[in-house]
Amino acid sequence: MKMTISLPAGGSRLSELIIGPGTLDELPREILTRLGRRRAFWVWDANVRELWGERLPALQLGGAEHSEPILFAASETNKRLSSVEELARRLVEAGADRNSVLVAVGGGVTGDVVGFLASVYMRGIPCHQVPTTLLAQVDSSVGGKTGVDLPEGKNLLGSFHQPEAVWMDPRFLETLPAVELRQGMAEVVKTAMIGDARLWDYLEGHHEAIRRRDPEAVSRIVTACCAFKASVVEADEKEGGYRRILNFGHTIGHALERLSGYRVRHGDAVAVGMAVSAELSRRLGRLPDEAAARLIKLCEAWDLPTRVPSGYDPAAIVAALRSDKKRMGDVLHFILPVRIGEAIDYENLDETLLRRTLTDLSA
Ligand SMILES: NC(=O)c1ccc[n+]([C@@H]2O[C@H](COP(=O)([O-])OP(=O)(O)OC[C@H]3O[C@@H](n4cnc5c(N)ncnc54)[C@H](O)[C@@H]3O)[C@@H](O)[C@H]2O)c1
Ligand SMILES: [Zn+2]
Repeated sequence: MKMTISLPAGGSRLSELIIGPGTLDELPREILTRLGRRRAFWVWDANVRELWGERLPALQLGGAEHSEPILFAASETNKRLSSVEELARRLVEAGADRNSVLVAVGGGVTGDVVGFLASVYMRGIPCHQVPTTLLAQVDSSVGGKTGVDLPEGKNLLGSFHQPEAVWMDPRFLETLPAVELRQGMAEVVKTAMIGDARLWDYLEGHHEAIRRRDPEAVSRIVTACCAFKASVVEADEKEGGYRRILNFGHTIGHALERLSGYRVRHGDAVAVGMAVSAELSRRLGRLPDEAAARLIKLCEAWDLPTRVPSGYDPAAIVAALRSDKKRMGDVLHFILPVRIGEAIDYENLDETLLRRTLTDLSA
């Protein structure tokens, strides 16, 4: 299966998503044909290069139009402006100019850093994304958000820069550690719950195939998630309102991540946030018991946590949400599921209900 989704990027330009096994074999040639007279500069997550550089000789073939690979030690701690500067200097040294194109190969960190670099290098050059983690394939490589962290918080510097194309091969996931697969699955479960009941049924019925990273099964879920995210982004590229739906589980998730000093991983934090939001929705009489139970069951099947970890005071979580709200200069929004495949944007949730629910769901 190979699927192409196009989405508008900055007006009339199209950003293409190419998904399916075999994508990688065609990648260097396909990119070359799109380049015209431009030259491509490849920035690789060093781990991915180590694992896949030799397994994919086609990527090494290159040609005069491809540069030597540039390696980036991808990690959240290196998702910094200093990395952008260092990579930019390496690009200058390698001869990249205003007519060059960047290709980012790696997970979400690499995609965010290289996407940001592309948006500012010589006032902006195009980029292609080759996401290699499930999280990057289903989430971070679609939508055009790029950025780096500051010591004061994540993603505080960034830009919107739609890639020309995103190339997704499920085979990359063969080497992905289970803990990373799980982080991506949290976003997949999120997508199914807020917008795709058919994907939900697929997830319930194809657990084993996904767990063993069957290429067809992975392509199926990546395609569904990208199609949904693309449709949301198309309707609301710059996060006016509708795009907020993607934040299901993230309001509480972000608070937990921050309170833990980022020791609780993003997908795990989002899973807890989804469980709390579902329970809130159930208590408000918006979500049937059966749907709430199915969410918990699916998260548990993926070893995703569904209770607030011990040691996190509900009052501290509520306080963190309040400070988030102040920072965003906004009312507090909760995305609440109302059935499998549909969610609503709920404002001004009662804090007492929230505190009580967090207490009841504490481990
Ligand atoms: N731009 C967006 O819209 C958006 C959305 C969600 C998340 N993000 C960002 O994405 C980042 C998280 O992305 P991530 O989870 O992909 O993290 P990551 O890029 O750090 O990758 C996780 C780990 O997996 C390794 N890895 C990557 N591909 C591999 C493969 N095929 N086999 C084996 N190991 C591999 C990496 O080297 C790294 O150690 C965060 O910084 C987050 O802010 C951005
Ligand atoms: Zn997320």
